[in-house]
Amino acid sequence: MTESDNLDVIAVADRTALAATAAEHLLARTAANSGRIAICLTGGSSPKQLYQLLATDPYRSRIPWQRVHWFIGDERFVPADDPLNNMRMARTTFLNQCAPEANVHPIPTATADPADPDRGAALYEHELQSFYGADALDEARPLFDLVLMGVGPDGHTASLFPGDPALDEITRWVVGVPRANVRPFVPRVTLTLPTLASCHEMLFEVSGRDKRAILTRLFAGENLPANRARSTGETVWLVDQEALPEDVGGQ
Ligand code: 6PG
Repeated sequence: MTESDNLDVIAVADRTALAATAAEHLLARTAANSGRIAICLTGGSSPKQLYQLLATDPYRSRIPWQRVHWFIGDERFVPADDPLNNMRMARTTFLNQCAPEANVHPIPTATADPADPDRGAALYEHELQSFYGADALDEARPLFDLVLMGVGPDGHTASLFPGDPALDEITRWVVGVPRANVRPFVPRVTLTLPTLASCHEMLFEVSGRDKRAILTRLFAGENLPANRARSTGETVWLVDQEALPEDVGGQ
């Protein structure tokens, strides 16, 4: 990473502050759009506290739920009610209590052949394109208001793993990933880099001591998937003290 990448790193004390700061970013993005709002959620454990917060006041009453549509940046290719399913986690932590069902857009995993995550990818690509109203992304009109992201121990983000051909996909909006590089070792479906980039803001949430090693490599500019994910608007890294490398202020 270099300054010319137009990146913001925001250091916060701990996971609680991280969730509250992420919630404020989400509220700012919803306030900036008086029309239909699109938010792309992320899986993994990092966003759970944020999702729980969104279901509680004062956050809950400040979100215009009828106008917000919720998508997911990647999915484990397991049924919708499987505990590993990313959208299930978002549903059970806040969407089921707060969002109209028609505004929740999961990646289909049940209707597709489990041996072929590409089929689920094609269905989701179609859904995103109908929502957007075009099959080509226009930089002047981002698909998402906000895209949430996490980072894995190998530098992956969404389900874009180091060395995987999905990283170089520039035509398809969503692709199947037959093999995951880390647990859980189930096939995945992921939005591609240009699709994730089509947003006003991309917000990474990174916390905990076990993320410090990968963040040190990322902040040193190593060519890893999370360093290739950039918004066409703003890209913000929200990092807690435990994850923050020492040379950028971590203790
Ligand atoms: C997934 C993800 C993945 C995740 C990172 C970080 O399906 O696993 O969406 O990209 O965000 O692996 O995961 P943690 O938050 O659990 O560390």
